[in-house]
Amino acid sequence: MSPLASPPVCFVTGVTREAAVRPVQHRLKDEQSEALAQLLQILCCGEESAVFAFQRLAGRDSLLQESQQQLLRIAREEEGHELLLCGLRAGLPAPPKDLGLQARLRRFFLSLESRDAGIHFARLAALDSAVCKILGELQSARGYVRGQPQISQIFGRIHREEANHVHTALVLGQEFLNRGKFLQEMESTRLRLSALLMQRADAFEGMAVDPDRLAHKLTQLPKLS
Ligand SMILES: [Fe+2]
Ligand SMILES: [Fe+2]
Repeated sequence: MSPLASPPVCFVTGVTREAAVRPVQHRLKDEQSEALAQLLQILCCGEESAVFAFQRLAGRDSLLQESQQQLLRIAREEEGHELLLCGLRAGLPAPPKDLGLQARLRRFFLSLESRDAGIHFARLAALDSAVCKILGELQSARGYVRGQPQISQIFGRIHREEANHVHTALVLGQEFLNRGKFLQEMESTRLRLSALLMQRADAFEGMAVDPDRLAHKLTQLPKLS
């Protein structure tokens, strides 16, 4: 697939892709490449929506200017993730079109926004920490990503930055929402995400990730202060 053939999956963020995207080299077998390409549909949709989510949160008047700057920096990192995954997609086969899943993903990500900043932060904390768990499983000693240096490097960087986003969302969000409600929002977001991910259970298995183990890990929420 050429870089030009990696259009946005769910949302057009305005990130300039063509100049920045370099197809990632790997030695995955065909069936592993196909599995990873399917999983990237979900991950990319999440990254695209995250760009908007953090930009919108940064625009809230109720936040300190310092926090707004922090959120804008995160939005730029999300753009970087989108580009990195775009390069990865460019080196993989095009996944089969699944308009139904794409519509469900789009609805899910759009539904995370809330007028209440605390709720929005709680949902983003649940989401970004789930990305950490997914990337952790994909990069585990059992997984096929481990032997692919360029893919490992990309996932490693996204993993580290997402962990930082989670920390920021937890710190800022808890100023707006009490602990019980924060946990409740994270839990329901994880449940909905998990149901979507399990629709791609075969693709996880194709990358040597046990979907049941992943689903169990997704029931574990980040610790609140
Ligand atoms: Fe991200
Ligand atoms: Fe993030």
